[in-house]
Amino acid sequence: SSVPSAPPAPFVAPSVVTSGAPGRPRRYLLCAPTYFDVSYVINPWMRRNVTVDRGRATAQWRALADAYRAYGHTVEELAPAPGLPDMVFAANGAAVVGGRVLGSRFHAPQRQAESALFHLWFKEAGFDVREPESVCEGEGDLTPVGDLVLAGTGFRTTTAAHHEAQEHFGRPTVSLRLVDPYFYHLDTALFALDDTNVAYYPGAFSAGSQEVLRTLFPDAVLATREDALAFGLNSVSDGRHVFIAPAATALAARVADRGYTPVPVDLSELHKAGGGIKCCTQEIRIS
Ligand code: ARG
Repeated sequence: SSVPSAPPAPFVAPSVVTSGAPGRPRRYLLCAPTYFDVSYVINPWMRRNVTVDRGRATAQWRALADAYRAYGHTVEELAPAPGLPDMVFAANGAAVVGGRVLGSRFHAPQRQAESALFHLWFKEAGFDVREPESVCEGEGDLTPVGDLVLAGTGFRTTTAAHHEAQEHFGRPTVSLRLVDPYFYHLDTALFALDDTNVAYYPGAFSAGSQEVLRTLFPDAVLATREDALAFGLNSVSDGRHVFIAPAATALAARVADRGYTPVPVDLSELHKAGGGIKCCTQEIRIS
């Protein structure tokens, strides 16, 4: 490609936020990568015998938490547990819409013990938690956009769980079929820019699901496969600032053209397990 890519710079908190109107303040649940590792293979990004630099992962993860705080968001932390190397990917532990919590049920046996820890955190925070009966990987496959919930299936979360989500949240839930194993969770292929629009990589979806997305979001920002492979769609937006992988340069430029402010945050050490910014972030949506 002809897109020049700058080396990823660590996030530096701005002393003054100069980007016009603030995004809506959000509440994010994160889990530190204290026990992060690639010790099993459950998606195409994970490789046997890969070495993980936990110090680097922790520094990158801290920079993400700092970036959220610098833009006015609240960061809550769930204590990590030994033996659960993927727990840093907090998005998968539950989904919260309108203050209602749908817990998780993981596809991979290696991650199943995480669900109870998320459940407990939400209980202690004063929420009721509904346990899904079918495989459901939280916000990894459930993306609220305004009053809708977009729901991914094909690799992890089942369509039965989409139905459970619709019943629990009382919001129309739109099933979308993922077809490319590199984009095994919806949040690797699509993110909500705000309450009315999304960015996505069409090739990650079945033909019918691509049509559904075109119908719902005719003005969506479309990403290339290259941007998607750089984890550019594993982004978090507060409606104004888009926390995005620095290697997704073309997508960041498109997002900026639409009036959003890209905030690059490098989580390359966590990419080794197939996760990025959004995977590490669960939004607690009260309204
Ligand atoms: N290794 C983890 C898994 O395969 C990565 C999860 C990434 N999370 C996400 N929301 N996409 O389950």
